[in-house]
Amino acid sequence: MPVASIRSICCIGAGYVGGPTMAVIADRCPDVQVTVVDINQTRIDAWNHTDLSKLPVYEPGLDAVVERARGRNLHFSTDVDEAIAAADMVFISVNTPTKTKGLGAGQASDLRWVEACARQVAQSATGHTIVVEKSTLPVRTAEAVKAILSAAEQSSEGAQCSFAVLSNPEFLAEGTAIPDLESPDRVLIGGEHPEAIEALASVYGHWVPQERILRTNLWSSELSKLTANAFLAQRISSINSVAALCEATGADVREVARAIGTDSRIGSKFLQAGPGFGGSCFQKDILNLVYLCRHFGLPEVASYWESVVQLNSWQQHRIARTVVQKLFGTVTGKRLAILGFAFKADTNDTREAPSIRIAKDLLEEGAQLAIHDPKVDSDQIARDLNLPASTAPDAESGPTRAALSGEGTWWPSCDMASALKGADAVLILTEWAQYRALDWSALAPLMRQPAWVFDARSVVTPTEVQAAGLNLWRVGEGQP
Ligand code: UDX
Ligand code: ADP
Repeated sequence: MPVASIRSICCIGAGYVGGPTMAVIADRCPDVQVTVVDINQTRIDAWNHTDLSKLPVYEPGLDAVVERARGRNLHFSTDVDEAIAAADMVFISVNTPTKTKGLGAGQASDLRWVEACARQVAQSATGHTIVVEKSTLPVRTAEAVKAILSAAEQSSEGAQCSFAVLSNPEFLAEGTAIPDLESPDRVLIGGEHPEAIEALASVYGHWVPQERILRTNLWSSELSKLTANAFLAQRISSINSVAALCEATGADVREVARAIGTDSRIGSKFLQAGPGFGGSCFQKDILNLVYLCRHFGLPEVASYWESVVQLNSWQQHRIARTVVQKLFGTVTGKRLAILGFAFKADTNDTREAPSIRIAKDLLEEGAQLAIHDPKVDSDQIARDLNLPASTAPDAESGPTRAALSGEGTWWPSCDMASALKGADAVLILTEWAQYRALDWSALAPLMRQPAWVFDARSVVTPTEVQAAGLNLWRVGEGQP
C-alpha cells in the first residue's frame, strides 16, 4: 500500500504537549493543515489571543512559532467533531493524571479522557484515519483505543471508516519544548501498520533526519516512554540521596556530580541536586510503571521503582524540615520569601512542583509565605496550596492576627524587595535566571537578622550571599 500523504491533522488537547507540538508541526509542514481542538473554551481563546504573551502555555520561542503558523495552517478550535471529520490523522493529547480513587488509585493513570476521545474519534471520523497516541499512557492503552475504534469499523454506521493506531510518545521537556521539538534526539513511532507508521514518519521527515525516527511495535513504544522518564527521575533521586549524604559528611554534591559526570558511561546531564523532581510526567509515569509491575506479578521490580518516588517526596519534606531547624526550630509567625513556584525554570507549569509540598509543610508550621514567580499567576498558586488567594493582609504591618494565632498564611509578591521585607529567610525553589543575578548586598538589609538564604537550586554565588551578612544553606553542601 502506498504511504498516504497527510494533508490534515487534528490534535485533541491543547495543553502543554498538544499546543507546542502542533505549533512546530504546522511551522515545519506548511503543506499540512493542523487544527488543535479542546473542550476548554478559555484555553482555545487564549491560544487564539492576538497578544502572544497571553498564550496559555509559556515556553521560550513558542510565541514566534505560533505567530508564523497561526491562521495559515495552524488553527485552534472547540469544534472537535468537525476537526476529526476533516483529518487524515488524529493525535490524542489529553490529560492522563494519576487516578485518585477506585482501582489503582494513587498509581494507575486515569484514562477517562483518552477513552472519551477514542469514542469521539470513532463517532466523527470519515474515511481512513490514523490515530496517534501522544499522551503518556500506560502500556497496552492502544489495545483499548483499538477496541473502541474497531467496534466503530464494524458497526453499520461506521462502515465507511477505518483506523490505524500508532503510539508516538512525546519526549519534550517543558521550558525547552521548542528546541526539543525542532531538533529531537529521536522520534519514536510504534505501531502494527507499516503504511501508517510511514505516513507519520513522513510528517516528521519534513525536518527530522530519518535516522532519528525509530520504529518499534506498539508496546515497546509505550513502555519506552515510561522507561525513559523512570531512568531520568532515578538519576535525580540518586543525586538527591547523595546530596543528603554530602551535607552529613562535608562533601559537596556539585563536586561529586562533576566528578562522576565526566565518566562518559554516566554522563553529566540530570545530575543537578535540588528540591526533587516535579512536572506532570515523572511521578505519574513511575507510578504507572509500579502499577504495571504489580499487575504482572513483579513486586520486587515495583518496589525498586517506587523508591525513586519515595526518595523524591522525602527530599522535599527534608528541605522544609531543614528550614525549620535552622530557624531555631520554629517558623510560626515568621516571614519566609519563596522564590520560584514553577516546577522548573522557563515554564508556568506547577504540576507536582516541589514548591507545593515544601510550602504546604511550612504553612503547616505556621509560616507566612511571600511567594514570587515570574510566570505563575497567584490564582494558580492558591489552587495548588488549597488556600484562598493571598491569605495574608498588609505585608507592611508586622505580625498579623493570623501569624500570632500560629496559622500559616501566604501572599503573592511581584517584586523582590516586598518579598524579602522583614523576612527571616529566602528559599530559592526554581532556577529562574533572574534569581542568579540578585543583589544580595541590597536585599540583605531588608530582612530580619539573623537571616538565611536556602538555595535548593544552586543558583546563588555563595561569596556574595555571605558578604551580605546572610547565612547560607545550599543543597548538598556539607561543612568541611
Ligand atoms: C520530562 C522529560 O524530560 C521529558 O522527556 C518528558 O517528555 C516529560 O517529562 P519535564 O518534566 O518537562 O520533562 O522536565 P525535565 O527537564 O525533565 O525536569 C523534570 C524535573 O526534574 C524538574 O522539576 C526539574 O527541576 C528536575 N530536575 C531535572 C532536577 O531536579 N535535576 C536535574 O538534573 C534535572
Ligand atoms: P498535557 O501536559 O499532557 O498536554 P494538559 O492538561 O496541559 O496536559 O492538556 C490536556 C488538554 O486536553 C486540556 O486542555 C483538556 O481540556 C483537554 N481535553 C481533555 N479531554 C478532552 C476531550 N475529550 N476533548 C477535547 N479536549 C480534551
